Amino acid sequence: MSFPEIRPRRLRQSPAVRNLVRETSLEARQLVLPMFVREGITEAVPISSMPGVAQHSLDSLRRAAVEAAEAGVGGVMLFGVPEVRDAIGSGADDPDGILNVATAALVEEVGDALVVQTDLCLDEFTDHGHCGVLTDDGSVDNDATLERYVAMALAQARAGSHLLGLSGMMDGQVAAIRRGLDAEGFSGTLLLGYAAKYASAFYGPFREAVDSQLQGDRRTYQLDPGNRREGLREALIDEAEGADIVMVKPAMSFLDVLREVRDAVHIPVWAYQISGEYAMIEAASANGWIDRRAAVLESLLSIRRAGADAVLTYWATPAAGWLRER
Ligand code: PBG
Repeated sequence: MSFPEIRPRRLRQSPAVRNLVRETSLEARQLVLPMFVREGITEAVPISSMPGVAQHSLDSLRRAAVEAAEAGVGGVMLFGVPEVRDAIGSGADDPDGILNVATAALVEEVGDALVVQTDLCLDEFTDHGHCGVLTDDGSVDNDATLERYVAMALAQARAGSHLLGLSGMMDGQVAAIRRGLDAEGFSGTLLLGYAAKYASAFYGPFREAVDSQLQGDRRTYQLDPGNRREGLREALIDEAEGADIVMVKPAMSFLDVLREVRDAVHIPVWAYQISGEYAMIEAASANGWIDRRAAVLESLLSIRRAGADAVLTYWATPAAGWLRER
């Protein structure tokens, strides 16, 4: 009988050793909380497919953002749910539109403690639910959409948003918005390019969260889930166009893309742990099939290990609390 000379288990022998050699860290400051604010409500409305997540009123939004700041999260990402929609998404660049009003409120409430971020996409504001404006034949018109995005970017910057999340997947969106902002004196507004955003089945619960009007799918602008190289290409294009940060989305089913993007660009890379990822862990936990806290923290750690510098997650506030307890 010969005994092993090489014993990797030595590094796992005690909590103290494991703690000292753990390669990846997870900190509250690396978490961003996505939040929904809905026009015309006075109390938060729960989202049934995302237990624990709600469409906020302006008041409950402020309270939840303060709670997030106190927990130590790094930022919040705001999505608006308007009462009225139209073909061009007029509510998106209306200074009195819900997203812009709520942004100003959050900047006032938590703007010193948190990076206040806004989703820049038309889908919540259009009556057809697409991320852009449509041509007569019903396809999404890339270049006409860019003009709407620039108007939306200026409205968000004027409302005080620190960082715009460009999630619409139109070609040239980063360059067009950067140019438009700089021309109006907003050269300090950060741009997050949703570079590798895939047409995913896991966005399901989000459609309830924003009361989406979409018929069909987004496969003419979001990426095919089978394409790794194409995600990398989009990230390189966004970096070249001047994005300050790039995104990979969803997170858990695209960890390989996340790693490659992290290795290829020289700017921060974030990942979005989306609604369906949240719903799956919540549903399994509610059934007693997995340990909720352990599963959530492992999922976030794994996304960090794959290369995310920060993670957008609906668990940001509770996870920040758990990390502090540890
Ligand atoms: C589109 C947008 C979507 C999400 C964020 N921004 C939905 C989509 O692309 O269909 C999904 C986020 C989530 O599922 O948590 N503006």
